[in-house]
Amino acid sequence: MSSSTPMLKSPILGQVPAHVAIVMDGNGRWAQKQGLARSAGHIQGAAILEKVVEAAIDFGIKRLTLYCFSHENWKRPKEELDALMALLKSYMKEQRPVFMKNKIRLRIIGRRNELPSDVLHEIDETIRLTSANDGLTLALAINYGARQEITDAVKKIVREVSSAIQNDPNDQTKIEALEQAIDEKYISSKLYDPEAPDPDLFIRTGGEQRLSNYLLWQLSYAELWFTNVLWPDFTPETLKEGILAYQKRQRRYGGLNSTDSQKPCDCK
Ligand code: IPE
Ligand code: IPE
Ligand code: MG
Repeated sequence: MSSSTPMLKSPILGQVPAHVAIVMDGNGRWAQKQGLARSAGHIQGAAILEKVVEAAIDFGIKRLTLYCFSHENWKRPKEELDALMALLKSYMKEQRPVFMKNKIRLRIIGRRNELPSDVLHEIDETIRLTSANDGLTLALAINYGARQEITDAVKKIVREVSSAIQNDPNDQTKIEALEQAIDEKYISSKLYDPEAPDPDLFIRTGGEQRLSNYLLWQLSYAELWFTNVLWPDFTPETLKEGILAYQKRQRRYGGLNSTDSQKPCDCK
């Protein structure tokens, strides 16, 4: 280890996933179990975030993408929505010194223009303030839906293509060249955060085993790990458990393990 490498407080041996995406689920059930309003679960869920983010830094994770509010969550009662928006706003303001201390860079993914303007203002202020930080990137999925993200990407592409052929709609070579240019990389470049690498590890708390419209494009080859722990009870230890489970997986991306590569193919 070079002298410039910071000492980790609680290192994990072996390969740590560079990008971890979490569905923070179970706040409502946590509150109900204690006879509290659902909003108390969201408040506790936000309160534990700081410790989890600091643990992610300690473990060597480079990017953490957290599902905070889905496009479908607008279906919830107004009282809960108001509490969630107020919480987002206060989280943004209160965490700024913590983000600066830990060199955290904030990003958001989701449909920005459907968020209340006061919430968006605090988010943008935090993004601006932390933009030069070079530590962990914290990407918050707010008013996020993967199908909406893909729909928005298709709209961007259609706009680009139509403006490119506007002057010469019958130019077949131009149309063919545009068609050639559209590949997976090009589509990725139209998503909400084009520079984000795909997640290596997906974690969902709260016991449900589904994606709930989260990062459908980006999770194609992520390792999936589910825990019954409700989000407000999530600790650095739970995160470590997820990372250790990840380390036992073999990622093949459709290929073969190096030891298997000599095996004859019997797939036909
Ligand atoms: C996740 O917790 C947070 C949000 C969706 C905003 P839930 O509110 O979904 O909690 P449960 O699943 O009802 O327990
Ligand atoms: C997913 O949880 C969204 C967030 C955690 C922000 P939900 O509780 O909304 O998902 P479903 O409704 O159980 O699929
Ligand atoms: Mg839920």
